[in-house]
Amino acid sequence: MKVLVIGGGGREHALCWSLARAADVDEIVCAPGNAGIAKIARCAHVKPDDPSAVRALAEREHADLVVVGPEAPLVAGVADALREAGIAVFGPSATAAQLEGSKAYAKEVMAEAGVSTARHWTGTDAAAAKEALEGFAAPYVVKADGLAAGKGVRLCDTRAEASEAIDEAIVARAFGDAGARVVLEEHLAGPELSVFAISDGTRVALLAPAQDHKRVGDGDTGPNTGGMGAYSPVPLADEALLERVRCEALQPTIDALAARGTPYVGVLYAGLVLTGEGPKVLEYNCRFGDPEAQAVLPRLRGSLAAVLRSAARGRLTQTRLDTDDTACVTVVLAAAGYPGRYDKGARITGLESLAAREDVLVFHAGTTKREGQLVTDGGRVLAVSGLGADLRAARDAAYGAVDHIDFDGAFCRRDIAARAIDGATER
Ligand code: AMP
Ligand code: GLY
Repeated sequence: MKVLVIGGGGREHALCWSLARAADVDEIVCAPGNAGIAKIARCAHVKPDDPSAVRALAEREHADLVVVGPEAPLVAGVADALREAGIAVFGPSATAAQLEGSKAYAKEVMAEAGVSTARHWTGTDAAAAKEALEGFAAPYVVKADGLAAGKGVRLCDTRAEASEAIDEAIVARAFGDAGARVVLEEHLAGPELSVFAISDGTRVALLAPAQDHKRVGDGDTGPNTGGMGAYSPVPLADEALLERVRCEALQPTIDALAARGTPYVGVLYAGLVLTGEGPKVLEYNCRFGDPEAQAVLPRLRGSLAAVLRSAARGRLTQTRLDTDDTACVTVVLAAAGYPGRYDKGARITGLESLAAREDVLVFHAGTTKREGQLVTDGGRVLAVSGLGADLRAARDAAYGAVDHIDFDGAFCRRDIAARAIDGATER
């Protein structure tokens, strides 16, 4: 099988790595890829969110399967263009991807499906939004409706701050058109959990869950990021909980989308909060989490390509995907300044000594080659996954590897998986 992977971050490196492991994959092409992906796949210089360019590439390459990594190409209609051309694609249509592309749409579908989620208000008028704050309590949650690269959510301690956040989105357009509509939400307290379901449009098969660490600083301090680290398994998420999430959230959502005539083929990623009243869906995403994929995929048994191809063909047979007993802890190495402004072009050293390690996988997120040297090319630069018999061993492997790697301004969180391992109290 020849697989085309769309995207060029750490998640796509993990996807390419996982696809390449199975004997049924002969060749992987990745567009645009990055310096790490280039070692296991042929990289093609095609813009990932240009539907006709991606379709032309898939046709030229005679790809048997196209796997779309990030949300932007999906929202732009890349999967639709491929499906129209009769190419097997794993990724939802632009309409179904609105589940991530518009928080208001997601709330509508969740209501239809009877999925438990945070109470919310949505609208485009700043004055009305400020008035609607009355119906909520601190901490106020103010979100831009559309895609804002993980930066469109503000948690505000006071009403004044929440009003400011509303003005920032609707009036100042800090997130462009994505913030023209805002969603106000009830604050949900409890540990977060990321659950990934592979769907073929009618059925779902769950992968092992993961927990992400979204804030930039240790102890969950500082601004939100795309994710600074993840681990899997999550001790809090036992079989009963996962089954509940499958039956009460994921399957009903897939059913609701199918009933609407917009079936969902791809990864349905539920961002959950485990509240005192049970799990509630904070948000849906239409793709694998990044960096969660780097912690979940190394634990997957069997061929990822085979599962994704069955889903693309509407022929999924399992409800759970087989997972190794090993644990995985993923630590993101980021460039100074991230998630704000950061420099690119710093030389990365120390990776060579890690290449032979069986308990360490270094996934490239923002890297490129310049004059033969590996240099930084993004805010999140590398995702270092450590594997071990349990989370403690996996964490030791990950941080042991991180300490070998260096580039100017490199930083990481030092407490990935700490709560699960050391039993510190949850937020
Ligand atoms: P989102 O982009 O919707 O995933 O939000 C990013 C992060 O903001 C989440 O992972 C949570 O940590 C936090 N967050 C968003 N909405 C809420 C909410 N209603 N209650 C508590 N935390 C939230
Ligand atoms: N790690 C969070 C996300 O991928 O949205």
